Amino acid sequence: MPAQIIDGKAIAAAVRARTKSRVSKFVLQTGITPCLVTVLVGEDPASQIYVRNKGKGCIEAGMFSRQVDLPASVSEKELLDLVSQLNADESVHGILVQLPLPDHIDESKVIEAISPGKDVDGFHPVNAGRLLTGKPAFIPCTPLGILEMLDHEKVHLKGKHAVVVGRSNIVGKPAAILLLSRHATVTICHSRTTDLPAVVRTGDVLVAAVGKAEMIRGSWIKPGAVVVDVGMNRLPGGKLAGDVAFDEAREVAGKITPVPGGVGPMTIAMLLHNTLEAAVRRAAAK
Ligand code: GUN
Repeated sequence: MPAQIIDGKAIAAAVRARTKSRVSKFVLQTGITPCLVTVLVGEDPASQIYVRNKGKGCIEAGMFSRQVDLPASVSEKELLDLVSQLNADESVHGILVQLPLPDHIDESKVIEAISPGKDVDGFHPVNAGRLLTGKPAFIPCTPLGILEMLDHEKVHLKGKHAVVVGRSNIVGKPAAILLLSRHATVTICHSRTTDLPAVVRTGDVLVAAVGKAEMIRGSWIKPGAVVVDVGMNRLPGGKLAGDVAFDEAREVAGKITPVPGGVGPMTIAMLLHNTLEAAVRRAAAK
């Protein structure tokens, strides 16, 4: 029997509806409307679409959103000055600087300039460290969305073997820590792992975040496994493909996320969740 398809669009819509209803209660109780500021440097068309959708999502959830557009020629100092202004602005709850940044700007410096309490991307080392040590943190949106999907699907993680392919700071590493916090046994592997197919084959849960179209074949997957595909790769013809060879994998897996319509829609949903959370925490700290 082919795998059950995990409908990321539907789960994201449920998360957004839940956030919207929490926002409306929060506004009534506090008189504060959560506000996300997105910063876009340059004119990369894909980044323009992402940032626009993040802003639209905020409005749909009843929150404020402001977008600051800067030319690609902006200096690092000007960007850092803007971040520090936004840090000091009481009406701003979340700050998101869209990546990638132009080569003359040090991304780490910019990320580290964002106040950890407004870091709704969860990229600041303070938030990464808090996640690692099990303290309340802003968690990067993609791994948080993966966990939300697994919870929605009632996937049991305790004692299971979760295999994460990919070790980025944004997806692989935080996903592994989250799975560990749910008592899964976690293996992180990557392009240099010896006999990667054999390791992947031991995963009851597989998170694929390598960024290589259809690299993970159906024959690598443990029968009945839950497969979460984070990949968003353009094939030569323009078609979007995940990191997992979907048609092969769905014949073996128990559940699988499609691309598109799987993890992708969850990311903005979790960003909205984090933005509300930033406002809630700020209000509680007052
Ligand atoms: N560029 C691609 N994805 C992201 C993201 O989640 N956050 C930011 N800030 N930039 C990105």
